[in-house]
Order: sequence, then structure tokens, then C-alpha cells
Amino acid sequence: MDTILIVDDEKNYPLILSAVLQEEGFETLTANSGQEALAILEHSDVDLVLTDMKMPKMDGIELLERVKDSDPELPVIMMTAYGTVEKAVEAMQKGAYSYILKPFDNEQLILYVNKAMAMYRVVKENRQLRSAVESRYSFGNLIGKSKSMQAIFDTIRKVAPATATVLIEGESGTGKELVAKSIHFNSPRRNQPFVAVNCSALAESLLESELFGHEKGAFTGAISMKKGRFELADQGTLFLDEIGELSPSLQVKLLRVLQEKAFERVGGMRPISVNIRLIAATNKSLREEIRKGRFREDLFYRLNVVPIMLPPLRERLEDIRLLTAHFIQKYAAERQGVPPVTGLDKEVERTFFDYHWPGNVRELENVIERAMVMCPGGTIKVDDLPKDFRQNLQNDGLNLDGMAAQATLYETLAHVEKEMILRALKKADYVQAHAAALLGIGKSGLNQKLKKYGIDVSGFMDNPE
Ligand SMILES: Nc1ncnc2c1ncn2[C@@H]1O[C@H](COP(=O)(O)OP(=O)(O)OP(=O)(O)O)[C@@H](O)[C@H]1O
Ligand SMILES: [Mg+2]
Repeated sequence: MDTILIVDDEKNYPLILSAVLQEEGFETLTANSGQEALAILEHSDVDLVLTDMKMPKMDGIELLERVKDSDPELPVIMMTAYGTVEKAVEAMQKGAYSYILKPFDNEQLILYVNKAMAMYRVVKENRQLRSAVESRYSFGNLIGKSKSMQAIFDTIRKVAPATATVLIEGESGTGKELVAKSIHFNSPRRNQPFVAVNCSALAESLLESELFGHEKGAFTGAISMKKGRFELADQGTLFLDEIGELSPSLQVKLLRVLQEKAFERVGGMRPISVNIRLIAATNKSLREEIRKGRFREDLFYRLNVVPIMLPPLRERLEDIRLLTAHFIQKYAAERQGVPPVTGLDKEVERTFFDYHWPGNVRELENVIERAMVMCPGGTIKVDDLPKDFRQNLQNDGLNLDGMAAQATLYETLAHVEKEMILRALKKADYVQAHAAALLGIGKSGLNQKLKKYGIDVSGFMDNPE
């Protein structure tokens, strides 16, 4: 229940106001001086301070300042008598929520109090989210309360101290690079280099010399010796991004490096050995690539020592509220002189839960960043969302993004089946019996399918704390 601290030096006045406010369902505490009020604040949870302006020793302004020092967001309403209006203006400048002129009627007071309380409730909710973000549900810059993300934090914690090779698989924008960095920065190598190479960004010959370096005169244009990323990452971590794009001949070379722990620069003879921790990432399924003859199985097993599968955002909707709070905080600094954004309004929240998020966390971050530019303050409304995103919402039918272009009928059907199950679960508020009914199958049938697709419903429905 919300608690109001009433401060007035006139002995009976706080008691009268108490009765009025208790009638409205508030808890009240009373004090007859600023000092007494501060003592109470130290030991009690107060949601609003209602204070007289003119009091001997510590006046309302000084009390306001002291309150703001310890909790800048706690609302303070000043009660001022005729003749102290200039003081009221000063109080507003010093962060009072509002002032009310004595004498006032009860209804007016209740209106002011309710407004301030509503504001503070949002502040408190955000605080809870923030502290959840900062503690249990974060791992460095990685946020997530879903079981799948919590399991990934565990894996990172376990593998970071070792040098075992890690293979991170996940759709675009699921956080693969972030995971790679958090492994590095939680490892004993954190003060050594973290070197990233995007295997899809360069043509084969350029990539080879980029990775292994080249000797002077190795090819036209090689006017001096150049160290490759393997050498630059010595003692640190080498992150090979988009490993699925590596050409067959580079796959062979990489395999050799992993087996022999040594390589030569392009055009060189001397074997160079380095001490690196290798992390690879891919947004393709490497098993699929192997099946199609495009990726070497022996290389896969060398890389896949510790696999980390980052689930798409649509399979961990429980993370959306935390991620949203995180991104609002991240972009808050860019909104100077504009009222703060406090969260999502209900409609936007619902929309976010229903959406398919083909661009995953990166798409969510982008939408929040752009919505915050449009949002005048308070909650983000549908109108604040970027136009192209609203368009996407409308077109968000059954989505086959993330499916390989040549997927077989069975793969496609499985994908669609999984999608339908996820949607039914959401519609049924994760009550499995209802979801099964929506799908027209039995409860045990649904259960089997949940197992088959590794869908875990236990993490849904609870609160974000
Ligand atoms: N769990 C998370 N918590 C907080 N931020 C995240 C999380 N996952 C991703 N992000 C943010 O989303 C954006 C995309 O993440 P990242 O670049 O790591 O994705 P990726 O999987 O490497 O994508 P791509 O395959 O497109 O390269 C980044 O700005 C990152 O900070
Ligand atoms: Mg990436």
C-alpha cells in the first residue's frame, strides 16, 4: 500500500489530513517538524511527502532539499499559505512535485496526491526493472531472464576460464558477438587482444592474408611483411564471425592450424605458433551446410567443442521487457531537456509480444532507439514507433525467415508447426490445455511436440523481478 508522510508543525493538522487520506486507502505517517520527518524517512518506506512550507527551524524548502538529496525521485507536495507563493515557486525549481494553496478542499488534495503517486509508481517499476537488469538477469552487457539465456550465462561462466574453442550459432541479431566478447572479457585473457574477423566480408585471397599475414613479396602489392589476425590475437581471443562462409580451401587451412597449432604467413616457410582462444560464430546451421557438402565435418568437430545456441527473440519473449528497459536506459542520455521515457504503453507491449522479430535483439534495439526520438516523454505509444516497423507488424504473417532457401518440405513443415505452437501458447497465455485445444490436438500430443522442438514454457507468465 502507498504511504504518505505528512509534515506540519501545527499539531492537529497532520492528524486531520491523515484521516482524509486513510479514507482514500493510503497509509499515513505524521511528523511535526522537518527533523522528525527525516528520521521517519530513514526507517520507513514512504511514497510521497506532503509538507507544510512554513515551519520553525527546518522549513519546507530545507526539508525538500534533504529529501531530494537522498531520493531525487520521491515526490514532495508543498502546502503553502497565501503570502508564501514565491517560496512555492522556489520549491518547484528545487524539484517539488507540486504545491497546493492553503486552505484547500479534500478533493483537490486527493487529486494532487493520486497524480503524484501514479508518477512515482512508474518510477518504482522502472527501478525494479533496472535492478533486475543489473543483477540476476544480466551478465556483463548481456541481458536475459529466460531459461535459455540463463543457461547461456552459465555456460559462459564455465567456459570463460578455459581455452576450449566455442562455436556460437544463432540468427542474425541474437547477440553472437556480444556473447563472444563476454567470454573474452570474463577470461584470464581479458587484458590481451580480442580480434574479430568477419569471414564473409573479404574475398578468399584477401581473407587468407588477413588471417595468416604475408611475407614481403608474397604477391604483387605485398611490399612489406604483414602480420595476420592469428598473430595479432596471440595470447588473446580470435573471433571468427560468419564461419559458415569460409571457402573450402580456407576451411582446410584453418583445420590444419587447429590441429598443428601453427601456420605460415602467405608466401612464407617458417611455421609460426600462437597461443589463441578461438571463438567462431555462424548464423547458418553448420550441420545443414555439412549435409549439403559445403562445410567440412572434421572442421566442424574441431570448432564445436563448446556449442552455444542463441535462441531467436521470438522464442524468449520473457526477455523483451528487460531488454526494452535496458535499451531505454542506454538511449536515455541522448534525450537531454526532454521528459524521460518511462516504458512501453500497454498496446505497444502487446504488439511486441505478438511480433515475430526476424531481426531479433538488434531489431528491438533499433526500434526502441528510433521510437525514443519520436516519443515526447512518458510511455512509448504506437504512434512513436517507426513507420517501416509498423508496416512490418501488419505484414507479420506466418514467417519463413531464417529458413534455408532450399529447405525440404519436412523442414518447412516442422518450422511452421513450431511457429503455430508458439503462437497458440501465446494466445492461450501459456496454459497448455488451452493451447492444445486451439491447435486441435490433445494435451499429450502437444507435450510431445514441445519436447521435440525444445520449447520450454516454464519460464513464462512470471513477473520481471
Ligand atoms: N542479450 C542481449 N542483451 C543486451 N543486448 C543485446 C543482447 N543480444 C543482443 N544485444 C544487442 O543487439 C545488437 C546485436 O547483437 P550482436 O551484434 O551481438 O548480434 P549478432 O548475433 O552478432 O548479429 P549478426 O549475426 O547480425 O552479426 C547489439 O547492439 C547488442 O548489443
Ligand atoms: Mg555479429
